[in-house]
Amino acid sequence: MIIGVVIGESKPTEVTAQSSKPLSVGEYVIIDSQDGKILGLVERSAISSEALTDVRNFDEAIESKEVAEINSRDKNYKVKIGILGFLDKLQKGHVVIPAVPPLPGTSILEATSQDLGMIFGPTGTEWIRIGALLRNSSIEAKININKIVSRHLAILAMTGMGKSNLVSLIAKHVSALNGTLVIFDYHNDYESLDISKMNYMMAKINPRLLPSDKLAEVIELRENADKQQRVLRESLTESVRQSKEFWTSLEENVAAFGRTTKGYADSASRVLDKIDDAKHRFSDILDPDCGDPVDLIKEGRVNVLNIAELSERQANAGLAYYLQELLQQRKESVWERKGKSTKRTYKFLAPIFVIIEEAHVFIPKGEHTDTKYWASKVAREGRKFGIGLGVVSQRPRNIDPNVLSQMGSLAIMKIVQDDDQQQISSAAESLSKDLISQLSSLNIGDALFIGQWVNLPSIVHIDEVKGKRSGSDLDAVSEWSQTDKFKDIAKETTHGLVQKDLLLD
Ligand SMILES: Nc1ncnc2c1ncn2[C@@H]1O[C@H](COP(=O)(O)OP(=O)(O)OP(=O)(O)O)[C@@H](O)[C@H]1O
Ligand SMILES: [Mg+2]
Repeated sequence: MIIGVVIGESKPTEVTAQSSKPLSVGEYVIIDSQDGKILGLVERSAISSEALTDVRNFDEAIESKEVAEINSRDKNYKVKIGILGFLDKLQKGHVVIPAVPPLPGTSILEATSQDLGMIFGPTGTEWIRIGALLRNSSIEAKININKIVSRHLAILAMTGMGKSNLVSLIAKHVSALNGTLVIFDYHNDYESLDISKMNYMMAKINPRLLPSDKLAEVIELRENADKQQRVLRESLTESVRQSKEFWTSLEENVAAFGRTTKGYADSASRVLDKIDDAKHRFSDILDPDCGDPVDLIKEGRVNVLNIAELSERQANAGLAYYLQELLQQRKESVWERKGKSTKRTYKFLAPIFVIIEEAHVFIPKGEHTDTKYWASKVAREGRKFGIGLGVVSQRPRNIDPNVLSQMGSLAIMKIVQDDDQQQISSAAESLSKDLISQLSSLNIGDALFIGQWVNLPSIVHIDEVKGKRSGSDLDAVSEWSQTDKFKDIAKETTHGLVQKDLLLD
């Protein structure tokens, strides 16, 4: 069915068309060109009325409104359509842009499921369903999971727009495929994920395995306390690391260093305080007897590591350790397969995908963190060794641009801030300005998918993962209304207790 006609000046990459009805931005259409069918994406859509243009006052507006209503030629629906390539080539996974622009007068046709199905919902086990096209809702939208493991992924959106929902959906599919996923869960969003192959655990840090500057971070020595740093460095000897009683041996060494080194008594006593404090405050996290924390991660599972209880510096040291170890183990696995190494100290035989929530905290712009160092290394080397990185953030402007630009695929949900949008457009060159400007009008669960995990940029409504508690907003008003009831119950209980106490007396 003809829904429009190409008008004005055409280019090989875009055409303007006059349409018979308003078209939605993000809708796919067919340009029936002289050289074959071309797939187009509506990037801008405008409606104007001749009668209602240049209206100078209210009375004139009312009159013009009546004229506009009876004149069927009054409305003007104009669209800008980006050219995505020849349809038959796209259906085979190739992008071929026409050398000659479509002629003015070319018909614009509605895209059918036959046209789009093979492009957005290819068959093959690596293609997993994520939702449906937002504007052509009968078309399934799938993503290629192989591409995110080999070329990484960024999920970016304002808070509450559905990032964790997408992560959960990916987790469900990875689990069904027996894949290995590691999620660093900073807000305890995934504990109740309803997946059979889930391995949920509290992240731990084994202080024996840390270099002294990292141990200094996790026990929260001040960064510029050079003398205290030295005390710790000198005291954390190999025999302390091997000792059965790690903390006691460390404390003995620190105390001895303070006694025997001139001018270090105060610093040593401060380090002792810090160790004592850390031992008590972080007893669940800092565990010298937990073995290698990486051993807790299981192959073929969705591993959710709860890092909610860790301070930012601890989480940073912990994440860096996990990334470093996972990369190393994958390297050894690949080397052995290539016959370059025979020792078998690794346990991950197949690729791993690692997801970091709140990536702007751990991979920040303009500041060094260990996690950033290892995340960049994974981003650069992961492809060769089968370790993929997924970064999730509500503040793209604060993520390190180098790491972001290495993410081969992106899911971008609603984003209104200009500087966030700019950061995204510089990370994703293929993104047109018009599409970027659409980001502010997306609703919860809608996302723009670009990069290697899709055949074409697409705007998708993501399926909602049911049966999990997620980061939904608290309903303060209804909780407040409950408080009175709780108070009454509390009063009754207290009253009862008082009565009972009196009786006991
Ligand atoms: N695809 C979807 N369809 C319908 N509702 C959704 C969808 N995705 C998310 N939601 C709803 O939005 C709420 C917030 O989603 P989610 O926790 O995934 O957002 P988020 O971007 O991770 O938020 P935060 O920035 O707080 O981590 C969810 O409780 C869910 O009800
Ligand atoms: Mg979230």
